[in-house]
Amino acid sequence: MIRINHHYLKLQSSYLFSDIAKRVAAYQEANPGKDIIRLGIGDVTLPLPPACIEAFHRAVDEMADSKTFRGYGPEQGYGFLREKIAQTDFRARNADIDPDEIFISDGAKCDTGNIQEIFSHSNRVAIPDPVYPVYLDTNVMAGRTGAYRNGRYENIIYMDSSRENSFVPDLPKTPVDLIYMCFPNNPTGAVITREKLAQWVDYAVKTKSVILYDAAYCAFVRDDTLPLSIYEIEGARNVAIEFRSFSKTAGFTGVRCAYAVVPKTCAAYDKNGDKQYLHPLWNRRHTTKFNGVSYPVQRAAEAVYTEAGSRQTKELADYYLENARIILQAMNELGYECTGGQNSPYIWIDGKTDSWGFFDLLLDKAGVVVTPGSGFGVCGEGYIRISAFNSRENVETAMKRVKEALASA
Ligand code: MLT
Repeated sequence: MIRINHHYLKLQSSYLFSDIAKRVAAYQEANPGKDIIRLGIGDVTLPLPPACIEAFHRAVDEMADSKTFRGYGPEQGYGFLREKIAQTDFRARNADIDPDEIFISDGAKCDTGNIQEIFSHSNRVAIPDPVYPVYLDTNVMAGRTGAYRNGRYENIIYMDSSRENSFVPDLPKTPVDLIYMCFPNNPTGAVITREKLAQWVDYAVKTKSVILYDAAYCAFVRDDTLPLSIYEIEGARNVAIEFRSFSKTAGFTGVRCAYAVVPKTCAAYDKNGDKQYLHPLWNRRHTTKFNGVSYPVQRAAEAVYTEAGSRQTKELADYYLENARIILQAMNELGYECTGGQNSPYIWIDGKTDSWGFFDLLLDKAGVVVTPGSGFGVCGEGYIRISAFNSRENVETAMKRVKEALASA
């Protein structure tokens, strides 16, 4: 008799953003005339930068000509893109990363979800709370957790993020092996200082653990004192894997391009306690299960690193950061305590009521979709997340409606 992977039965209903979409669809059906503004999922609304579009078109034309046509590319990505990434995103910031330590992929969601495959099931996994659900759910699917009780899975070491620690988790008190981190943070919008990140790197070095560092939102950092990459911290090459994405950086959510950095010096240990480098393991996994991102998409991503492309992508991020400022100001004026909204496209708001209740209130009274904080974990209860990814006009209208709705609530 064929059996299922029973770990899937431990998962909580559907993926958070599918749940929200269903709830909004049901509301819309019941209220057909109602105008709804979506500030829930962090999906970009502005078109691709012109430099990327031009490169995209040129590459498509190459595919139409037998002299320049390309079939399968290297699974790890084309050299032209990996070299630009290594030089611009890392070496220019004194982070020692080589092009062949970069693996181009179709998304940071896939990378952060798949990376756990190269680690033992016996690892003790530390996950922040609140958290981007992918880190947790993929460990559940892989069977690293026990049952779900009172909002948490057994066998996971949850790292609470709250106002008390400025939404940056403290070093764990019990031993851990695999540590998930995300800065600027999704969902809280919190950022991490160099000093704090250095403490985590030291911890990983001392305890022989590995940090999985999601930096998908680093394009929104405007404070020069903050690190963009974990590799700006000494020693991180040996203990950290980093994830980046062109989705939020350059509007690629519908195009799909991202990358993982697996330094050749980053290692874990086999059952005999012998050091094993992670680069060949991830290379093996990647080449077996992935056939590369399409050539035109990689050319479009490469254009992000041209003079025009980098100016245009910065303008995109600046646009959303101004939206974030408007949202933050409106919520502060209403008396809510907020995190994020600066150096981050997310605003994390203490709603002073239960998360889904606040979600329903804003949907019903203001026609504005947000994300309930409890969907990101127990510590998210009472909060909502507002995303700055929408047009200026929609953000201004949404905040006007939110103000009116909350004044009359
Ligand atoms: C979010 O809203 O948290 C993100 O859009 C999800 C993602 O990037 O997959």
